[in-house]
Amino acid sequence: TTVEWEAASYDMGGHDTYMHKEIHEQADAVDRVLRGRIDDRFSTVRLGGLNLDAREARQIRRVKILGCGTSYHAGMIGAQMIEELARIPADAEPASEFRYRNAVVDPDTLYVAVSQSGETYDVLAAVQELKRKGARVLGVVNVVGSAIAREADGGIYVHAGPEVCVVSTKCFTNTTVAFALLALHLGRTRDLSVRDGKRIIEGLRRLPGQISEIMKQEEEIKQLAGQFTEARSMLFIGRVRGYPVAREASLKLKEVSYIHAEAYPASELKHGPLALIEPALPTVAIVPDDDLLEKNRAALEEIKARSGRILAVAHQEQEKADQTIIVPKNEDELDPILMGIPLQLLAYHTALALGRDIDKPRNLAKSVTVE
Ligand code: G6P
Repeated sequence: TTVEWEAASYDMGGHDTYMHKEIHEQADAVDRVLRGRIDDRFSTVRLGGLNLDAREARQIRRVKILGCGTSYHAGMIGAQMIEELARIPADAEPASEFRYRNAVVDPDTLYVAVSQSGETYDVLAAVQELKRKGARVLGVVNVVGSAIAREADGGIYVHAGPEVCVVSTKCFTNTTVAFALLALHLGRTRDLSVRDGKRIIEGLRRLPGQISEIMKQEEEIKQLAGQFTEARSMLFIGRVRGYPVAREASLKLKEVSYIHAEAYPASELKHGPLALIEPALPTVAIVPDDDLLEKNRAALEEIKARSGRILAVAHQEQEKADQTIIVPKNEDELDPILMGIPLQLLAYHTALALGRDIDKPRNLAKSVTVE
């Protein structure tokens, strides 16, 4: 695959920026991360590179996911999927924090290092420290043969293809899909039923087509972006599955448009951020059609009652929102994979309207390979 990458890497394929090109490559990229991995016979997936047999998989008592930036956010989504599908306690932490806090390293914990480049120094240093203490570490990595992929005991390549733009889009999406595969695999070595396994597999197969559906809304999203260029700050909210989506969308907007953005759990609004709500602070709300829908609607009402402007990303029109971007519904557990994608387009078009250097935002680097 490394050789294939070379040729395709730098061709813009008619797009004005790599970010735009890479956003539009996502349906194909997701197709690639799934290819050859689904095992319909046992309603599970085959992940040849994990180097983890079923007995070992069953001994895992916790999962700890480590990454930086966008990869950390993909890991947050991954942790929720692993808890939901495999019922193994899981959480994500910035690798940069983990490596400095003398964390307790536990032999029954599976550590997962996430990195597009496979070269981020903070992640690599965390992996090396974990290995030195005898931990088992998997890599969820894009670049084949990279330092983190080599240091890890096994892992999953996310096969997003080369990502040139400094900010990550298609690799984020593919990483969340790779985590869905890991969660399904761990779930099916434990108590996830054949029926639920099938349900998730069918959901995974729907993703590429649904991503193409989202891309068709680009013109509308571009119009929406025009309304945010004047904003000095924006709030992104989401609850449980929607929260990491809000975090990543807020990061994307900051990175490419330089508009300040803050992500908050919707459930925490009343514990502080409500004080900020006024017409000049737009809120982007992630509102999936799941068991928390009513709770999320109540949050929109709270904001509306204080004259806040709301853009919802939802599976159905939201009455309290000024505008709603409708995203195709998948299985509840897989919804986070799709819900951030229109917000990549929103960040992109906001930055474009502001004349930003989209592929190379100021002060940022694609991979931070130094201390
Ligand atoms: C840098 C990039 C981010 C990226 C992070 C982690 O900060 O600017 O876009 O998410 O590194 O990179 P990695 O290659 O480890 O995923």
